[in-house]
Formats: sequence, structure tokens, C-alpha cells
Amino acid sequence: MAKFRIGVLDPIAAEGIDLLNADSAFEFEERVGLKGDDLRKGLTEFDGIIIRSGVKITAASLEGNKRLKAIVRAGVGTDNIDKEAATRLGIVVMNTPAGNTLSTAEHAIALMLALSRSIAPAYQSLCNGKWDRKSYMGSQLADKTLGVVGLGRIGREVALRGLAFGMRVIAYDPFLTEEQATKLGVEWVETVAEMLPKVDYLTVHTPLTAETKHLVGMKDLPNLKPGIRLINCARGGIYDEAALVAGLKAGQIAGVALDVFEEEPCTDSPLFGMPGVVCTPHLGASTEEAQTQVAVEGIHLLINFFKTGEIRHAVNVSALDPKTLEALRSYLNVAHRLGLLLSQWHGGAVAKCHLTYRGEVAGRDTKLLTNAFCAGLLERHLEEDVNIINAEMLLRERGIELNESRSQEMGAFSSSVTAEVSGGGRTVKASGTVFGHNMPRLVSLDQYRLEAYLDGKLLIFTHQDVPGIIGRVGTAFGKHQVNIAQMSVGRAGDKPGGSAIGVLNLDSQPTQAALDEMLSIDAVDKIQTIDLPAADELPVWLR
Ligand code: NAD
Ligand code: MLT
Repeated sequence: MAKFRIGVLDPIAAEGIDLLNADSAFEFEERVGLKGDDLRKGLTEFDGIIIRSGVKITAASLEGNKRLKAIVRAGVGTDNIDKEAATRLGIVVMNTPAGNTLSTAEHAIALMLALSRSIAPAYQSLCNGKWDRKSYMGSQLADKTLGVVGLGRIGREVALRGLAFGMRVIAYDPFLTEEQATKLGVEWVETVAEMLPKVDYLTVHTPLTAETKHLVGMKDLPNLKPGIRLINCARGGIYDEAALVAGLKAGQIAGVALDVFEEEPCTDSPLFGMPGVVCTPHLGASTEEAQTQVAVEGIHLLINFFKTGEIRHAVNVSALDPKTLEALRSYLNVAHRLGLLLSQWHGGAVAKCHLTYRGEVAGRDTKLLTNAFCAGLLERHLEEDVNIINAEMLLRERGIELNESRSQEMGAFSSSVTAEVSGGGRTVKASGTVFGHNMPRLVSLDQYRLEAYLDGKLLIFTHQDVPGIIGRVGTAFGKHQVNIAQMSVGRAGDKPGGSAIGVLNLDSQPTQAALDEMLSIDAVDKIQTIDLPAADELPVWLR
């Protein structure tokens, strides 16, 4: 069997490389420093890659890539990856969120202490041959107020360490409730603006988003407590660097410690050399422990993804562990087949889809099932590969509205998936379920209840529910050498004589002559062939 090819595109700890060396299912290559065309070409040679923050996976570098299936970021921030472009191509992006939490929290505290005790300039002065004790009067942390913006993994650890130093800690995070804050022993505020005039130290631990960009900027300077010290170990740009310079010059800000910069690498900044400033070159996670942990965790993510289909810590798709995958496999298959069926049965431009999950399956991760349905609906219409990672995005990009509802109440089946598709004035609907362990079945189509196989070549015909139809259809197909493997009929209501539907599972594609003969039967209104995968055929992403 061909080996999975992994690209190691930024340096990672040897412990991670050892794991790749030890697994015969993988081969790998270390290619650090790829850019531009070399990067684009390089990415087409790997099934999966592991990176840190060095390489930039842009939309251009992924363009036309048909091979890459997984990108793992050994670390937290995925801002060096164009996730939208990756998602569009069906590439899963995973990270190792917790491996460097403690190291980064410690770095924030280290910077806070370095600022308070002028560690860097005092040592520099010694190196310059001076014994200067007057210029470096410090400030102790105990009894000071620390503001923490972003109480996620790192922010919490920083807050706890601040408390351990005897500081009063004020926190803001949109997902932090007052109750949770009290439990942590920190004071809760409703806005960042509310904390700025109160804090002696401010540290940020959020991602860089439209909301957090320039969270402290020129307009905030008058609101800062005079003598404040600001620390950023999260992402460059959360503080406006120009405002930091202005605040330091005006004496409003006493100290600035940055580990991250608006532009990286950053070797030249007006901040460098200013009194009260200490900076490090993005070293928050640079400890032996953190690097070993993120490399090992990252390689495990790749190994498990390629060997078992497990998706953990994905930032662009729902998680999918092997147990969930196994439990959902048969319904993912049903949802995918319903998508394929309805795209053909509807036959026109789709504007709206609604998925309804009933029974036991409604309690599962229905988002994945919806993605599988979207993949089926789109895959025969699009040039690009469609899978459960990119399907929903591709669907929404086409302006198609997508909704789902769930009811844990069982209908006639312990679980069922119903999909309704509309557009161009036509609405079609189908429900599917699983019989036994893994037999996908169509249990309703539009207003008709039935019980048909959801695989292979289907011929669907609507007709008047009059005697003799089934015999005449059988005779017509027999004459044209088309074998019917299974037939299912359904009525709209309970009474005979109304409109009805028939679904034939055929062993081969019917000839035009066979179809014409069938259409010539008076009571038959409409016929349509539908092509579904064979019973045991699964899409690549479900195998
Ligand atoms: P996390 O996801 O656990 O926490 C982020 C927190 O920010 C969340 O609780 C979220 O609710 C909060 N948040 C989001 N928007 C906010 C807003 N507008 N205002 C206030 N809070 C907001 O992430 P983490 O692991 O704690 O990492 C935090 C940051 O540190 C990330 O940007 C990450 O990339 C960075 N990081 C840097 C280094 C380094 O080497 N310097 C190392 C690791 C992580
Ligand atoms: C991260 O997001 O994990 C950090 O930027 C650390 C890093 O990878 O250097």
C-alpha cells in the first residue's frame, strides 16, 4: 500500500519526527523555508503537513491542490493558514491547543516581572561596566491590579499566577460569566474600557480578530491608568504599536513588553530601545516542554487522521473521533445518498435546503450529517472535490440557504433523516433510514411513503394507482432485458386510486426504448432515472 507522505514545513521537536520514523504507514520530508512557487509545488507532494508559524499557507499556495488532505499547526494560532481556502479544498486544519499553554502563560509573567524590575536594561548597564542601582528602582506585583483580556487557556493560567503573586485580577472575556469569574477568584467586568482606568498591568490573551485588533489604540490612551504596563504574548496588532510609542513618550504608559508584533519577523521597531520596553522574538511557546508536546500531539493528529479518519482539534470542521465516525457512518452514508438523490430528483437550481433529524440520530452531531448531505447534493455539479469539510461552505457560497431541525421523538423509525430541497418553484423531499446495521433505505419521497433501496440505478415513476401497473412495468422491462432487482410502491394517502409512486432498483441502465415503452403506459405520468453509488460504495471521505 502506498505510504502517506507528510511534509514537515517548519522545524518541530525530534520527538515528533521519531513518531513518523517509527510508523511504516508514513514517509516524510523536512522542507523548511518554502515560499512562493516552491511552496505551491511542495504542497502538492504531500498528503498532510505539519507547520508552526513560519510557513504561510496562503490561498495562492493551495490553489489547484488536489492531494493535500490535512494541515496540522503544532501550536495554537492558525492565522498563518488561509482556513477558508483550505476548507474550500476540503482540507482539514487541526491545531494543538493546549501543548504550549503553560509556557506562554509563564512567558507573560516573565515579561511582567522583567518590566517591573528592569531586568533587561539593568543587565545591559552591568555589561556596559556600570554599577547603577539608582536608575532601576522597581515596582512589586503584590497588591497591584492586573487586567486580563481573554480568559481562555492561557489567560486563565496568567490570572491564576497573578493571584499567586498577591495581585488583584480583573478579567474580561465575552464568554466569561460573572459566576465563573468569581469561582476563579477574579473580578468580572463587562467591557475592556471599564478595566483600563483600574489596572496597573494589562495582558491580552485573545486571538487577533476584527474585534481585538487595536483593542488598545490612540483613542484609549486617555482612559489608561497613568503608569500602566502592557504585555502582549498573544498576537501582534492587539495593541496599536504606534499608540504604545505615543503613550510611552507622553509618560502615560510606564512599560511595554511584546513577544508578538504586527509584522513578523520584526527586527526594527520604534519601540526597540525606548525606556520601559522589553521585547522577545515570539518566544512564548519556545520551551523544550512545549515544543515536545506540540510536535508529539501534532504528529499524533496526522497519524490518527490518516489511519482512522479521526478529526481532533479541527478549526474548520466538527471533531470526528473514531467512535463517533463508526456510530455515524451509516447515517453519514444515508445523508450523502439523500443529497445525491435529491439533486437528481429536483433537477434544477437549488435555493434552499432543510434537513430534519428524528429519533436517536437527532442527538448526534447532525452538523456532520448535514455536511454529508451537502456533499451529495453538490458533488456531481462542481469541479472541485467535495467532502464533509468543504461541502457546507461551498453550498452557502452559492447562496443556497441551509437549515436543520431536530426532534428526538421517534417517528415510524428509531432514526430518520428527511431532506427538503427547493428552488425554481419546485420542492422535493425524501426521507432515509438505516435498516439492520448498515442498509440505507428510502422511506419516503415527496408525499409518498415507501421502502426502497437507496443504492444503484433507480427508476422512479409517478402514476395513477390503478390495477395492473406493476405487471405492465415488469413486462415492459422484461421485453427490453432490464432486470428489476427490487420494486417498491407507495401511495400519497391510505386509499387506492389516487396518485402513487414506484421505485425500481435496476441491475442495468434501461435503454431509451424501455423508458419510452414505460412512458407509453397510460397511467404513468413521469419517469426519472436516478444514479446512486452501489450498496457497498462509500465516498472517499467515509471509507
Ligand atoms: P483560547 O482560545 O483558549 O483563548 C482565547 C480567549 O479569547 C477565549 O476565551 C475567547 O473567548 C477570548 N476572546 C475572543 N475574542 C475576545 C474579545 N474580543 N475580547 C476578549 N476576549 C476575547 O486561546 P489560548 O490558547 O489561550 O491562546 C490565546 C492567544 O495566545 C492566541 O492568540 C494564540 O495564538 C496566542 N499564543 C501565543 C503564543 C506565543 O508564542 N506568544 C503561544 C501560544 C498561543
Ligand atoms: C502559537 O500560536 O502556538 C504560538 O504562536 C507559538 C508558536 O508556534 O511559536
